[in-house]
Amino acid sequence: MSADPALLERLNRHGQSHLLRYWDELEAPARAGLVAEIEAIDLDQLDSLIAQHVRGEEGAGAEIAAADVEPIEVTRMPETDGQRALRRRSASLGADMLAAGEVGVVLVAGGSGTRLGFEGPKGTFPIGPVSSASLFQIHAEKIVALSRRHGRAIPLYIMTSPENHQATGEFLEQNAQFGLERVRLFPQGRMPVVDRATGKILLAARDHVALAPDGHGGVLAALAAAGPAGAPSCLEEMRQQGVNTLFYFQVDNPLVRIADPTFLGLHREAAAEMSFKVIERVAPDEKLGVLVRVNGRPRVIEYSDLTPELAAWRSGSGTLELWAGSIAVHILERSFIERLVGEARLPFHRAIKKTPYLDESGQVTRPPEPNSVKFEQFVFDALPHSERWAVVETDRAGEFEPLKNAVGPESPATVHQRMSDQFGEWLEQAGAIVPRRPDGAVAFGVEISPLFALDAAELRTKIEPGLVVERPVYLR
Ligand code: UTP
Repeated sequence: MSADPALLERLNRHGQSHLLRYWDELEAPARAGLVAEIEAIDLDQLDSLIAQHVRGEEGAGAEIAAADVEPIEVTRMPETDGQRALRRRSASLGADMLAAGEVGVVLVAGGSGTRLGFEGPKGTFPIGPVSSASLFQIHAEKIVALSRRHGRAIPLYIMTSPENHQATGEFLEQNAQFGLERVRLFPQGRMPVVDRATGKILLAARDHVALAPDGHGGVLAALAAAGPAGAPSCLEEMRQQGVNTLFYFQVDNPLVRIADPTFLGLHREAAAEMSFKVIERVAPDEKLGVLVRVNGRPRVIEYSDLTPELAAWRSGSGTLELWAGSIAVHILERSFIERLVGEARLPFHRAIKKTPYLDESGQVTRPPEPNSVKFEQFVFDALPHSERWAVVETDRAGEFEPLKNAVGPESPATVHQRMSDQFGEWLEQAGAIVPRRPDGAVAFGVEISPLFALDAAELRTKIEPGLVVERPVYLR
């Protein structure tokens, strides 16, 4: 049986008829599966993405005139007693929100983790410097501890991708959800992957299109999508349960202060729809998205889209003017997401990556160099749609060291050291003696389970001053 003529005609029109190259060799179920994958692709949208991101070589930032860009206002780290008192007031408001059950947590864990090169979902990576606890365990324990502290089970929503959904679910089940009472997994959408030179959609197999997760910005549509077997969407479920404010973070940063009450309070005081935590960029080429205003509107410019001139723009005192680097920690109002998915679609960015594909001879080839373009949405592109926002500075050492690479910067080695440094500092604040190397780094693995202490203040209530740490330690 030949392929449906209407489908063939459509593929021809979009220059993608090669997707049916192996049609004659496929059995009926494989044909049906392939047709379903093709039907799910919006070929008109793909045409314009290919025209923009494959044929044209522009980056989004190239369109931004430097004269239109200005720094954004940031709530800076408190320095005076007065500022610290204000932060305590915000923290108390945030604590009230947690105790009232208004806050949910959204963790995005659908990425492919290609740079880390780890088999399995990145959240299952053993990152605890002493315990080898997984990223998921560390995040889950923070939520369990926070729920106990505020007397209210905080719901966790984990975004997976169709590739890692099952493995993520199994991992959590094998570990009894790490004690979480309310956790729901939801898969994100996918986009076809195209050849970098020609814009043709790649085949992953004779009966499969190459598909990749649609970026962390896919979280908005995925939260709004109906659940399995007619279950309500995540947003609908949240609405039914009175969850109005969502703390968003990414799976790869074990230092994140999940549902930080101060951040929640500052967001609420600003009546914000979307909020950002930022750190001070120290070098013009630092790989962080930068918060700015463009023609008065707030937005994030990806580091790769920032012109060298803007990246290195300095004030009279020599500091970077556009210093506010996003650490991908946000708060979003549920009502904001509901409005946004109804009225706007986030733009797609391109990512040039290595993607295995079926070559001309019908063999799967693993390319040595990036051969493909993936299309991804970024959650921070929601910002310009918000009517009110808050941008809050945090300290880099205390809250940001993501696991991205197998070696070098942002790798297991740097994350282990940063975690040990942070926990060592907490112990010192509690009066313990912690050995340090000449460069100031904590000399060996030090780790504290969130179930033992969620922060330095709690640790002070748990250990005796004068404790001497002589060997790797895991407090749990
Ligand atoms: P990254 O941009 O670091 O991508 O994701 P990645 O896929 O994990 O890693 P590489 O680039 O392939 O090496 C930042 C965060 O966004 C999530 C990731 O799981 C991570 O928490 N993410 C990314 C998604 O949930 N979905 C996506 O489609 C992309």
